This record gives sequence, C-alpha cells and structure tokens, in this order.
Amino acid sequence: MYIPDEIVDEVLRRCNIVDLISGYVSLQKKGSNWFGLCPFHNEKTGSFSVSESRQMFHCFGCGVSGSAYTFLMKYENFTFPEAVRFLAEKEGVVIPEGENPEEARKKESRRKQLLDVLYDAELYSYNCLRNPRGEQGLSYLRGRQLTDETIKHFGLGYAPKNSKEVIGYLKSKGHSDENIIAVGLGEFSEKYGMSGKFWNRVMFPIQDVNHRVIGFGGRVMGEGEPKYLNSQETEIFNKRNQLFGLNWARTSRKKEMILCEGYMDVISMHQAGFTQAVASLGTAFTEQQAKLISRYTKQVVLAYDSDEAGIKAALRAIGILRAEKMYAKVMSMRPHKDPDEFIKALGQEEFQKRIDEAENGFYFEIRMLERGFDLSDPDGKTQFHNEIAKKLCTFEDELQRENYLNAIAEKYVIRADILKDAVKRYAASGVGTKEKQIDFSVPKPLASAKMRKDQLKEEKYKRSANLLLAMLWQMPEFYQAVRDYIGPKDFQTEEYQQIAELLFQKLEAGEKVEPALMISRFEEEHLQQLAGEIFSAREEAMLGLSGEGEDPAPDKETDRKVFKEVLLFVKSTAYEKLAEDAPLAEVVKYQKDIEQLKKLKL
Ligand code: GTP
Ligand code: MN
Repeated sequence: MYIPDEIVDEVLRRCNIVDLISGYVSLQKKGSNWFGLCPFHNEKTGSFSVSESRQMFHCFGCGVSGSAYTFLMKYENFTFPEAVRFLAEKEGVVIPEGENPEEARKKESRRKQLLDVLYDAELYSYNCLRNPRGEQGLSYLRGRQLTDETIKHFGLGYAPKNSKEVIGYLKSKGHSDENIIAVGLGEFSEKYGMSGKFWNRVMFPIQDVNHRVIGFGGRVMGEGEPKYLNSQETEIFNKRNQLFGLNWARTSRKKEMILCEGYMDVISMHQAGFTQAVASLGTAFTEQQAKLISRYTKQVVLAYDSDEAGIKAALRAIGILRAEKMYAKVMSMRPHKDPDEFIKALGQEEFQKRIDEAENGFYFEIRMLERGFDLSDPDGKTQFHNEIAKKLCTFEDELQRENYLNAIAEKYVIRADILKDAVKRYAASGVGTKEKQIDFSVPKPLASAKMRKDQLKEEKYKRSANLLLAMLWQMPEFYQAVRDYIGPKDFQTEEYQQIAELLFQKLEAGEKVEPALMISRFEEEHLQQLAGEIFSAREEAMLGLSGEGEDPAPDKETDRKVFKEVLLFVKSTAYEKLAEDAPLAEVVKYQKDIEQLKKLKL
C-alpha cells in the first residue's frame, strides 16, 4: 500500500533517531554524535554512530548506514512500508489507508478504542492480584516459583470470582458493552446481562511486539477445566500471527529463539535468563509465526513437551521452519515434561546444556521416522531408506541436501550413491520439492584474481563517488564551480544515478538537503544504505585524521585537493565507459569537460 511522501517525512520529522535507537543500543555522546556497539556486526569498541543533526546512523566498522527507517528495516527486518507504519504509530501519525482517509481514520480510532479496553482490563487484573481478593492468585503464582519481579515483568494478574466486577470497572472507564465484547472480555445474555469471560483465574496478558495487550490467557488455580481459557480471535488478536513473549524475545539478541508451547514455559525460561523464548498461542505453530521469528533469527530451538503430542508438534514445526528456510533443532526435556518443570528440577545451567546439545531437526525427524520400521527386516529397512530419500527432497537448497544426504548415509550405513539415486527418483516425481529437477552438477569455480581486481576497482569507485556527492552537498561553492561539468548521468550505476538525480535536483533548486528525508525517498534498503553511505562519506574518509570521538576538523586545502581528485576519477571513469561506443561529438565534449575540470581553480 502506497504511503504518501508527506507522511513519510512527517513521521521522520517527529521522530528523534537518537531516542529510537537508544531503545535498542546503549549510546553515549562523543563530540556532536552518539556512539555505541554496532547491532549489525560483532565488535568490542563502539564504531556505531548516530547523528542527531542528520537524523542518521552510520557504522564506521561495517558501513551500515541510513535513516530511522533503514534502522528498523535492518533491525526488525521490516519492509519500508512496515517501518513507516511502525514509526508512525509510535509518533502518533495517522496514515491514510487506501482511497479514503476518513475511513482509515475511523478504523484507526476503533483500533485504538479496542486496545484501550484491553489496556484498562490489564490494569484492573494487575491490581486485583495485589489486593486481598487476589491473594489466592498471587500465592498460586508464587507457588509456581515465579518471583515478584517476573510477575510484574509479564503483567500477570487475577480475575476475581465475580465476573461482573471487571465489566463494571471497564464501563466506569467509559468503554461500551460492544467494545468489551469485541475484544473478547465480555458476553451478553438476556438472562444475566453483561458478564466477564474470565473469572477466578490467574491472567496472562498476551502482548504484541510493541508490548500492547491484545488478549489474555487465564489459568485455573489448580485442577479444573479448561486449564487455560484463551481470548478468542478478535479484530486485533490474530493468534496465527502472534507469539507469546516475542515482545521481549525480539531484543534478546541471542543467536537462536526457543520455541515452546506454554505461557508458563516462556515465563520460566525468561526468569531463568532465557529471554529468547517464545510460545505459539495455544494453537499449532504456523507459517506466519515462522516468518515472524525469521525477522530476528533463522535458528530455532524447539523446546516442546517430551510426550508424543510434543514430538508430533515438533515434527510439524520442523517442516514449517524448513519451508521458510530456517534451521530447527530439538532439545530434550527428558526426564521432565516441559521447560518449566525442567528448569525447576535441574536449573539454568543444565537447561543451557540442553540448548547446546539440541539435536539437529533433520536427525530428529529421521530418528522419529525410524521408530515406525523394523530394521531387522530387509523390507522394513528398504522402506525406511526410501522414506529418508523422500525427506531429503524437502530441502530446496542443493548444497544443504547434499550435505544431509552424505551425513545420513554415513549415520545409517546406506550407500550414498544409491540413496542419491532414490532422491533423484523421488524428486523427479515431485516429492517434497517445488523444483522438479534436482541439479546434481558441479558447483561454480571460485573467485579468480581478475574478480579480486575488479572488486578493488569497484571499491575505489564507490569511495570516490560517495565522497564526490557528499562534498557537492556539503560545499555549495564546489557545486557552483562544477555544476556545468558534471551531472547525474556521469555516475556509473543505476543506483548512483538515482541518488545523484535527486541530490542535483535539490542543489539546483537551492533547497536544503536533509539527509534523513532524502534517504527515505528510497524504498529499497540497498538504496537507503547507499544514500546513507554518501551522507557519511566525508566522516568516513576523515577517519583517522581526528582523535577518538572528536569531530573531524575540516581543512580547506585538503578538501580542495580531495574534491578535485574524486571529481576527476568519477568523470574519467564515465569517459572510459563512454569512449567505447558513444558518438564522437559526445566523446569530444567529455574530453573538453575533463580538461576544464583539471584546470579548475576552486
Ligand atoms: P501449566 O500446567 O500451567 O504448566 O501449563 P503448560 O504451560 O505446561 O501448558 P500445557 O503444556 O498444558 O499447554 C500448553 C499451552 O496450550 C498453554 O500455554 C495454553 O496456551 C494451551 N492450553 C493448555 N490447556 C488448554 C486448554 O484447556 N484450553 C485451551 N484453549 N488451551 C490450552
Ligand atoms: Mn507446564
């Protein structure tokens, strides 16, 4: 859905990138910029900088660069519109949807009303747990060895025995019956009027990634049916699209996420320091949930119950994860039932060991498959091996399939060539894979010396072009001096031309260039990245010329020299390319321009 530029800019103007990024990275002020450890590469010294005046970030270590949107796209794996929407919501800017902005505003305001109902309900149940009525709930949770801090962190609460109370409270806050019903907290009957859905239960608020309550799970204290009562699907609570604990897990920055089944499991794990744990919401794991996780990591460790139902759920999840090109491992809870009980019984260190020892998802699948065959019988063995071949077809990546094939052949003592034939046969018949033909041909040759040379040349070009554009932007007098000799077309790639086009337009019109706004004219991450690099090119080039954290001191003479150098390099590269097949007149004009530029007095 198209978001108008004015909105994109408006959101950016309201947002302060330093505040935004501070929510993810701890920043310290040095000179006029803020610095911290780069979240996009591993480092011990902070080379990640955030500029308040430019509303940009730039890492002097790995080169990532861009605006607040770029940061969200990289960190949260958002698309551009998602990043704009996310920030718009944070900054309170309404994005008109579709043709009719009025309609969109109505929808937005309804959404907000519904979220408000849930917010108040959460506040209510949270407070109930802490007054005499909630004593039983509090002692239940403490009995399950949750600390007060954990109870607070997850906003756990209590729904009193009399379900009319919460309704009364919500109505006193101005919420309508209709809205209370719409969020799944109340129901209406002719006989009893309005009553609450949850009563005499401990309450687990379900939060979306922005920590907003979108539903509840309520557990009986002790035995009783149903054990958990969950909010039904509503306009704002789509179970297939949410994961319990993701609001905390997404910033855990661990290399994997742990996927489990229960609220209590997530809470126990987080309490024990495993803040990378999430759970699907009382329903089977879905493709959407896998996609959600893959924004943060491709590696998932399954911590499902150790019973048959848990195994079945794990097998399903492995298939879903593989289809999303993610990696699954399975950890064993044995001899305990689930993560919560495991941690209680054996503690945090043992749990970490189990994570480290988690079994490769494919090995797990094969091991479970094996249980269905009698391997002492040749026919049983053949069937088992054929099933392995079929399973191997579920890998779309050729190299991965090949590696698994060899590993499994060795593990189960099968001749690899025979197994490979079976895989080819199944693949040809379309088993388990989208591409019918599996290509077993030889991989491509490795990079040659020539490629390395080309790469160096490309890097030099990039450095020069970035610097040239940055200097044209920062030094209007340079721009004035050369504007007749250089334009967007002189840049080599389409990427550069697009950015240069925009920059020259602004410079020509004498408009102020605001880096963050300009970066955000581009939807694609690679263009934002390149634009970011351009706006940071001078600082990047001056790195080493100045002391730690100090702002680089510009020196006019150096500027002139550097500017001329990069200008000539970019222009002559364009000339070389052009000279190959352009009309003579044009070639001659280029030669003249270059001569002029060489003589140029800045
Ligand atoms: P505890 O007994 O509190 O430790 O629960 P658990 O987290 O071990 O839950 P269990 O493994 O029994 O169930 C896993 C998840 O399935 C729960 O977190 C709920 O989301 C869901 N669930 C469990 N029981 C019920 C139920 O009776 N009804 C519904 N709708 N969902 C349930
Ligand atoms: Mn449990």
